[in-house]
Amino acid sequence: MSIEIEILNGDASWPLVKPLYDAIWPPEVVAGLPWAGITFAHADLRVLVQDESGEVLCHAGIYRRLVKWNGQNVNIAGIGGVLTRADRRNRGLATVGLNAAIQTLRHEDSINYAVLFCAPDRIPFYTARGFLPFDGDVYAEQPERGRVRFDTLSALVHDVKRTAPTRGTIDLCGLPW
Ligand SMILES: CC(C)(COP(=O)(O)OP(=O)(O)OC[C@H]1O[C@@H](n2cnc3c(N)ncnc32)[C@H](O)[C@@H]1OP(=O)(O)O)[C@@H](O)C(=O)NCCC(=O)NCCS
Repeated sequence: MSIEIEILNGDASWPLVKPLYDAIWPPEVVAGLPWAGITFAHADLRVLVQDESGEVLCHAGIYRRLVKWNGQNVNIAGIGGVLTRADRRNRGLATVGLNAAIQTLRHEDSINYAVLFCAPDRIPFYTARGFLPFDGDVYAEQPERGRVRFDTLSALVHDVKRTAPTRGTIDLCGLPW
């Protein structure tokens, strides 16, 4: 199987990716997940791993954000919505997608580090791919609730231009991803 990797505008490529989200996270599945009811940001860019016919096999969203770390403004990027079609898992596609996301951020030049959120059982998957657990506190915004502590999912960080902090307080200054 030959694969193609594309980095596309987040909103414009959403129709290509929506079927993958709908298949993996339909509303009835999301309702039983820890992050049910949380409002998430929309990706600015998307890494798509496609087969030769253009079918989307794997996705990773990229979210550019000016956050505050211990009160200081820092340009970072979120990575989220890492999904591989159920029948194409365990072939390295998410690894390819994550590497492409980190490479994209390195080329942007203004991104200091990346932040990703995942369920605790996924932590080993990401730490095996260069992410480190973030042991500090994370705050995010939610509609009608304002700024809230975001501890539903575990935070991980990845170096990009600078060494990512693993402690302290990150205020996402917006919706989580
Ligand atoms: C988590 C998820 C994205 C992983 O996608 P994937 O494409 O199967 O991931 P990879 O193939 O890169 O890696 C998965 C496993 O495949 C195996 N693998 C990786 N590359 C391989 C290759 N080239 N050949 C054979 N097996 C390989 C490894 O065992 C790897 O696990 P490990 O290294 O952590 O032990 C996928 O399971 C998924 O979509 N899950 C549902 C949604 C979800 O939970 N997303 C995460 C949100 S945080």
